Amino acid sequence: MAKKLMVLEVGSVVLVGFLFMIASQASAQEQGTEAKETSAEGAAEKQMEAGPSLYDRLGGVYNIAAVVDDLIDRLAVNDALNANPGINSARIPAHSPGVKYQLTAMVCQATGGPCSYTGMSMKDTHADMGITEKDWALFEVDFKATLDKFGVPEAEQQELFAITDSTKADIVVAE
Ligand code: HEM
Repeated sequence: MAKKLMVLEVGSVVLVGFLFMIASQASAQEQGTEAKETSAEGAAEKQMEAGPSLYDRLGGVYNIAAVVDDLIDRLAVNDALNANPGINSARIPAHSPGVKYQLTAMVCQATGGPCSYTGMSMKDTHADMGITEKDWALFEVDFKATLDKFGVPEAEQQELFAITDSTKADIVVAE
């Protein structure tokens, strides 16, 4: 009898120990999940505080691609721009779909979208084109016409111009 009780006692200590282990594991898992939820919630909260990205406000990559498509077609037939032989000779019609792809990826990335630009640097791409301030002004007129055509609101237009402005020093290399 005494032996049986001891076994029972030992058994219940083991059982209690085992139950304790399971309980603490479950609690650790819960804490882990809570920590994960908290960081995901934190990120979502931060995003809400910051407001939607420019990428989201533009309506995503399809809208960006449509804008880029229109802009590249517009620039290609801009006689004033093509009067610069450096620009005219660098423009290869068969490249147009590839340039549209690269510029879409670049704008998608720069506006906070889920894309990665894999093309050449702006300096290397435009280095031999002799692009002037006058050419840049012509580009801006076409860019504005495209943004207006798609009804891009003024605030978003300004943010997009800030992005292109940030590349100007690498692109405008001639008087
Ligand atoms: C006066 C303004 C600009 C002119 C005249 C110009 C002209 C050109 C030309 C002629 C090409 C080569 C096209 C071809 O291969 O057929 C090119 C490529 C490219 N440009 Fe511009 N560009 C201008 C401004 C910009 C700006 C503001 C950006 C970006 C914000 C830009 C981004 C690109 C990209 C991503 C490529 C393709 C690069 C690659 O293929 O890796 N360009 N540009």
